Amino acid sequence: MRMQGRRAVTRHPGFQANIRRMQPFRPKHYAIVPAAGAGSRMRSERPKQYLSLLGRPLIHHALSVLCGLPEIDKVFVVLSVDDAEWRQHDWSGLGDKLVPLFCGGATRADSVLGGLRAISDRAEQSDWILVHDAARPCIAPWHVEKLIREVSHEEVGGLLAVPVADTLKQSDERDHVIRTVPRQSLWQAQTPQMFRYVMLRRALEQAREVTDEASAIEAAGLHPKLVQSDATNLKVTYPLDLHLAEWILRNREA
Ligand code: C5P
Repeated sequence: MRMQGRRAVTRHPGFQANIRRMQPFRPKHYAIVPAAGAGSRMRSERPKQYLSLLGRPLIHHALSVLCGLPEIDKVFVVLSVDDAEWRQHDWSGLGDKLVPLFCGGATRADSVLGGLRAISDRAEQSDWILVHDAARPCIAPWHVEKLIREVSHEEVGGLLAVPVADTLKQSDERDHVIRTVPRQSLWQAQTPQMFRYVMLRRALEQAREVTDEASAIEAAGLHPKLVQSDATNLKVTYPLDLHLAEWILRNREA
């Protein structure tokens, strides 16, 4: 019966036109890179996104990967309102996907939310937003491609993460062990973190005291997908991390 029905439909003259109209809507993928932090743990005068890494500002490396991916439609960098350094560098090599937004906030979550609000005219509710820390310069194209591949069919969204390898200890205020935390099922969250525009915006408007986007989504009672990444996608937080990042990028190029 169903076959008959389908044949009857395919013979209908308007069928091809209907199918064209019914082509699945492809959501866009927008990257948001919060880069409005001071990076005080680096013990440097300069915000860490501008520290030199292989002769370029640290943030340039991640932006170059994101702008180079055909899957990503635009890359929005959220900078502090009084950022004095962005304009001192030449970003023209990254093409016209790159858009700076001078709307950073007091916390990372505020900066991401500021970016989401700033692109509200452009982004559709169901477009995907990939939030990536400016401080993760060693992101590789395959990290982002894997995330998009594995999360595109998820209802909630997801994030790159690495299963915890070390045994974890919880301490008291004088650094003595209170207990060992079983590491089974524990992951270290990384970025990019990928969520639908409307879901992420609503979640961040509700939960401002979070250190990543997934936490805001979890606070709304939802369960993001963990996509396995690796340790090379490290976050530059302390001075030693800059040397590690340099080593990773050099060896990858080789
Ligand atoms: O300080 P932390 O390493 O956790 O920052 C993660 C990312 O969030 C960095 O890229 C930093 O520039 C950004 N950030 C921000 N606005 C803030 C604080 C941090 O965009 N107020």
